[in-house]
Amino acid sequence: MAILKPISKFSSTTPIFSNSRCVKFATFRMSSTSPPTTAKTVAKGGKKAAKTAIKETLLTPRFYTTDFDEMETLFNTDINKNLNQSEFEALLQEFKTDYNQTHFVRNKEFKEAADKIDGPLRQIFVEFLERSCTAEFSGFLLYKELGRRLKKTNPVVAEIFSLMSRDEARHAGFLNKGLSDFNLALDLGFLTKARKYTFFKPKFIFYATYLSEKIGYWRYITIYRHLKENPEYQCYPIFKYFENWCQDENRHGDFFSALLKAQPRSLMIGRLSCGPDSSVSRCMLPCTSTTVNALLSTRALD
Ligand SMILES: [Fe+2]
Ligand SMILES: [Fe+2]
Repeated sequence: MAILKPISKFSSTTPIFSNSRCVKFATFRMSSTSPPTTAKTVAKGGKKAAKTAIKETLLTPRFYTTDFDEMETLFNTDINKNLNQSEFEALLQEFKTDYNQTHFVRNKEFKEAADKIDGPLRQIFVEFLERSCTAEFSGFLLYKELGRRLKKTNPVVAEIFSLMSRDEARHAGFLNKGLSDFNLALDLGFLTKARKYTFFKPKFIFYATYLSEKIGYWRYITIYRHLKENPEYQCYPIFKYFENWCQDENRHGDFFSALLKAQPRSLMIGRLSCGPDSSVSRCMLPCTSTTVNALLSTRALD
């Protein structure tokens, strides 16, 4: 999933990028509230470098929270008879296989490529890495908490969430390593504590996250295929990793698909609210409008 942060966030003063070779290392601290806020860039070694205004927009990635008590009820097999535990068991085995365990290994091409990216492209590319890292990290936080909260109620579903948080942490870490090629890093610990969390009811978490994961899959594979056909635009090696990477997102989407099937009440509410004459697309409108907002701010990369 990705995020769009306004370029102005960092471009207002530009020192970080245009003089990046002069700054040994900087840590971004992205703040949370909607009006423009302040981000602190800190040079490695603790020396404060500069302060840069952050302007958050609709497209800035968000962090999410939900009604965890309701989640526990929804995944209680004594209460929800629609839960297909054998399907979840099969999915769990797939996640345990951890197909991409050894996939995210960097090489010297990364730094060499980063050093060749200059000017406006450098600025845009750093934003791309930063937004993507924040979005992946957002998924990590939500899935990790769901894994923790559902452990007693439904250990199988809980373990899947934990393994998905493993994947998202890996993705976020790989993107953050990419930022290090530009002498930058996102302060993820600070983000966790300081960023505002947006609340969604569980059913909207299901809709939004399902679509977000599937859009994430299509985004990664589309970029990968495009650059494979047009290698002259392959400016940084991270894109070569997208072919396997997108399969993680696809598996996450498949899991949410199984979750949605296990929550027919949520799906039915969507249909009933639109009436019997509504087309499928109209039926989905109330859900997707919320979902689109979520997608824009989490995964809808570019
Ligand atoms: Fe991911
Ligand atoms: Fe994912």
